[in-house]
Amino acid sequence: MNNRKMRAFMSTLMLATAMTMAPLNASGNPVVAATATLARPWMDTSLSAEARTDLLLREMTVDEKKTLVFGYFGSPFKERNYAPPAGVRMGSAGYIPGIERLGIPAQWQTDAGLGVATQRDSTEPMRERTSLPAGIATVATWNPALARQGGAMIGKEARLSGFNVMLAGGVNLVREPRNGRNFEYGAEDPLLAGIMVGAQISGIQSNNIISTIKHYALNAQETGRFVLSANIDEAGARMSDLLAFEIAMERSNPGSVMCAYNRYNGDYACENDFLLNKVLKGDWGYKGYVMSDWGAVHSTAKAANNGLDQESGYIFDKEMFFGADLLGKALADGSVPMARLDDMNRRILRALFDHGVMDNPVAVEDHKIDYAAHAKITRADAEEGIVLLKNQGGLLPLAAGASKIAVIGGYADKGVMSGGGSSTVFGRGGNPVPGLGPKNFPGPIVFHANAPLAAIQARAGGNVAFDTGTDPTAAAKLAADSDLAIVFVNQWTGEAMDFALTLPDNQDALVAAVAKANKRTIVVVQSGGPVFMPWLKEVGAVLAAWYPGSAGGEAIARVIYGEVDASGRLPVTFPASLDQLPRPKLDGEGLPDGTKFDVSYGEGAAVGYKWFDQKGYKPLFAFGYGLSYTRFAYKDLKASVGTDGTLTLSGSVTNIGERAGKAVPQLYVGPATGGWEAPKRLAGWQKLELASGASSRFTVPVDARLLATFDVAKNEWVVKPGRYKVWLGASATDLPVTTEVTLKGGRFSAVKAN
Ligand code: BGC
Repeated sequence: MNNRKMRAFMSTLMLATAMTMAPLNASGNPVVAATATLARPWMDTSLSAEARTDLLLREMTVDEKKTLVFGYFGSPFKERNYAPPAGVRMGSAGYIPGIERLGIPAQWQTDAGLGVATQRDSTEPMRERTSLPAGIATVATWNPALARQGGAMIGKEARLSGFNVMLAGGVNLVREPRNGRNFEYGAEDPLLAGIMVGAQISGIQSNNIISTIKHYALNAQETGRFVLSANIDEAGARMSDLLAFEIAMERSNPGSVMCAYNRYNGDYACENDFLLNKVLKGDWGYKGYVMSDWGAVHSTAKAANNGLDQESGYIFDKEMFFGADLLGKALADGSVPMARLDDMNRRILRALFDHGVMDNPVAVEDHKIDYAAHAKITRADAEEGIVLLKNQGGLLPLAAGASKIAVIGGYADKGVMSGGGSSTVFGRGGNPVPGLGPKNFPGPIVFHANAPLAAIQARAGGNVAFDTGTDPTAAAKLAADSDLAIVFVNQWTGEAMDFALTLPDNQDALVAAVAKANKRTIVVVQSGGPVFMPWLKEVGAVLAAWYPGSAGGEAIARVIYGEVDASGRLPVTFPASLDQLPRPKLDGEGLPDGTKFDVSYGEGAAVGYKWFDQKGYKPLFAFGYGLSYTRFAYKDLKASVGTDGTLTLSGSVTNIGERAGKAVPQLYVGPATGGWEAPKRLAGWQKLELASGASSRFTVPVDARLLATFDVAKNEWVVKPGRYKVWLGASATDLPVTTEVTLKGGRFSAVKAN
């Protein structure tokens, strides 16, 4: 026995002795702290995560090190005759075996950002769990506290379902409104996306589990996602998509980063030296590990050397690139240095220590999930994310009782829609509308059994009639015989596909027919992002409800009846037409599968409202827009520069309406003489609850990167000296209060001080 083996043997022996002597605690686990520390010094919680990692790494054999960098898909994959290894949590996204000898737990991975998902091919019944509203809905709350609370809730369900890694934290910018996964992401603005997704991740990780920010980077459309190259100049990327990641990561310290499917300036994201080594691990000093997306690895040496730390979901990649054979060969011929394997392991172990995974083992304890409490959390999120887009003559909120109401379409009698793909959470009570959508991934369309109709009925008394909306003439007749009509229209979107912005299934004709029959028509749109509304002028009110999650029906009714204010604000621009987009036609559309192509993001950092501003286009609805049931006035805008050069903005908002409500005062900034990608950028906001007549002051320090452009040659952010304009108001196109400030300017490095 060599020294290393002897040490390992002694550790096992000592631990075994400690375990047999150990008393049991209340949950039946052995109490081994003091003795275990002797046997496993890395379990000494008084040491830093780094120190503990070093101690543990020293004990590991090469085979053990290879174990931790290779993950399996956690579900059967029939087409490939794949059955997952023993030890998986069946129906899950992934599994990395643990190392019992050293007390390293398995990594049990579950999707995703809306709650605990189940893979469709599971041989066992779906895990029925609480679903948050779509990510875009959470971001539409503009309320980081809610995002954190929602994250903490789904993280808890993940832990109690036996998972210690949650594949949550989708922070890709909404660059392309047709992207089928926008519902999982959140915003077109890096500050808004970064703050909100960062808050969600920190909530998830508060459960002593790891969350995986994704998909790094520029995975902005689903069409051709496995092959396309997202081409963008470095400065543009640093000031947009990369900045969203950077901000979210600073606020949440995610244990892991998932690299994306697509290529980035030519190289696959999971073997992209620039993205992984230079920016993530170099400039940002990231200490966690990079896991691949499922099927995103294309090489052994290139991926390993360019920064990938863990291959995920074996069976999706063409080969077992980080499997024992190929990785073993690469180590033997030196194309992957042993030091790199150590680094991969160091990063994984450090994350396990840092986030409490080593010290707080997970177990399947789903009987402990408090679904009633969690329903309240998802409802709070959904109702604050619903955006009131139109409200002619104060049609909303409705008074309880009284009127005769026609509820039409959208399966509103059964439940609320959710988005498709790996993130789909199967809700409690099953899917009340089975059989819709694609038979295979990303289908089927899954609804949550929380019907808006029942929630409306409960408030309206017995005067509610339902029509499916399949025949516009019949629906219009019902609307004509009613005091008002509430039409539900649905746009299903999902992973692996992009979608037209036009509502499917003749729903535009349905709305037009109903609105013609009854002017008091309220449209509730369930969608994953922007849609066109050719009937907008004809209807009385419109609500964007996104995919509102497990308590979505209740949330919609509560907003309609004014039990809460309408306080969501758009996190994305709703375009008026396709020709307003940087790419009216989606690149790659119609190409045979597997054909490589480029998407050139010539607009650089001018994403969303920045693009619309720069071009002078008038959108259907602007970024930041959303009505309240009350009215707000903004004033007292001040901009001051501290001795350290920090720009601080302050202002006040007053509720000048008759009801209590929630305001979202927004602050924007831009150089008086231009020079940025767009005239202005979002610099900050607040979400404030105000009684009628009440005022509140707010103060927002501005992140210096939002005042800078990126100098690639010097790897620095540069703030130009001069005059800057500051705006305060209710959306990117409604900014009544302005002021100016002079900045001294300066430069600072892209490399973070550690
Ligand atoms: C998705 C990831 C997901 C993974 C595991 C991939 O298809 O892009 O977001 O986490 O599958 O299910």
